[in-house]
Amino acid sequence: MSEVVKLTIGEKTYELPVVLGSENEKGIDISKLRSSTGYITLDSGFMNTGSCQSAITFLDGEKGILSYRGYPIEDLAANSFFRETAYLLIYGQLPNQTQLDGFCNKIHSYSVLPEGIKRILDQFPIDAHPMGVASSVIAGLSAFYPEYLEGEMTPERKDNIMAQLLAQVKMIISYFYRRTKGLEEVAPSKDLTYAGDFLNMMFHQKGFTVDPEISKALDILLILHADHEQNCSTSTVRVVGSSKANLFAALASGIDALWGQLHGGANQAVLEMLETIQKNGGDHKKALAMAKDKNSNFRLMGFGHRVYKNFDPRAKIIKQACDTVLNRLGIHDPLLDIAKGLEEEALKDSYFIERSLYPNVDFYSGIIYRALGIPTNMFTAMFTLGRLPGWMAQWKEMTEDTATKIARPRQIYIGEQKRAFVPMNKR
Ligand code: CMC
Repeated sequence: MSEVVKLTIGEKTYELPVVLGSENEKGIDISKLRSSTGYITLDSGFMNTGSCQSAITFLDGEKGILSYRGYPIEDLAANSFFRETAYLLIYGQLPNQTQLDGFCNKIHSYSVLPEGIKRILDQFPIDAHPMGVASSVIAGLSAFYPEYLEGEMTPERKDNIMAQLLAQVKMIISYFYRRTKGLEEVAPSKDLTYAGDFLNMMFHQKGFTVDPEISKALDILLILHADHEQNCSTSTVRVVGSSKANLFAALASGIDALWGQLHGGANQAVLEMLETIQKNGGDHKKALAMAKDKNSNFRLMGFGHRVYKNFDPRAKIIKQACDTVLNRLGIHDPLLDIAKGLEEEALKDSYFIERSLYPNVDFYSGIIYRALGIPTNMFTAMFTLGRLPGWMAQWKEMTEDTATKIARPRQIYIGEQKRAFVPMNKR
């Protein structure tokens, strides 16, 4: 017999079914709780709330395990390429050569931005934050593809819009970067990897060639960012998508959620924190003391995670990639020394040990981006580029799941009870 959980309220006991995941994760199904008991659950920040059943990404925060569709992240980082991993996330299986070629060709076939989108991009101030630009322009794409705003989203239309976005988001980010530098746009190339093409679209000028080792390192970074189950931005994409808003709108909302410094914005915040430590003479002990001081409002950026309570497997790989990239480019970045020193101190410190705070995906990624010449305020846009397939895979899964309902949490109202309206002259 399948497991049930008993809930006793006053004299009455209710049986709640337990849902079992393929990795033995257990969830108490409370979908009928309110209708049968009159109670709701209260879970600020959704610390204990499962919002869906998903077959895309598995994460065990205690053991530091992350896998996409059953493949460990370490294997994908070592053996896969970003578009292949994107296919895996979206369609559930590793593609064979014909499927992969078809997917890459399809993405490439959308390598054009509407002129109107370019004109919009041209209107932003050059110091505009790329996340604001990306969010508004991706929402703005809906104006140029009105066919996606009506009618049923058939599997074929979903395939098309996802391939289109994999092509266009890369173009939007690199177009805006080049505009800030007064440079002409560079067309996507079919012959490069996704990361290599992006680097070329960003930095192409006379004499520039894509270094395969560097583009491989960036490809790994994109793979590591590609999905992370029901995090803040992915949940946002699902929440917005659950109202049947179009994919452009859902992704734009996901980008906005990612922008915050407790989420993807942490990669920019880490770099700024390291620069501040450097400016103050490189003493990371002060930063550690501030992070521990509850009156300071300061957190060690790039440290801690809602789910990982042992280590973030992505951070391990990124730390290695960081050394590879810096060695390859012959760069000695003093910020890397500060970051390593900070990590070493924090991992010995009882405050961080007791709270299970470890470096997360954002701690070392910024040092790689900086070495590649990517401006600090663009770091979170790089996270966006990586997370795109995950958001779309989760959106697709949600649209195919017959259990999906519009996201609409409840609340416990703590405001005034009914009172009589007071006319202006009596207030
Ligand atoms: N520095 C100092 N103290 C911290 C930190 C930190 N980075 N993170 C958590 N704490 C403390 C926090 O003050 C609290 O202490 P106490 O129990 O004494 O009140 C305890 O650890 C638990 O923290 P929490 O805020 O309840 O944990 P959470 O699961 O709600 O937050 C987090 C997770 C990632 C938002 C948080 O660890 C944090 O703010 N980290 C810094 C920002 C960051 O690096 N974000 C990127 C996350 S990974 C990538 C992504 O999601 O995009």
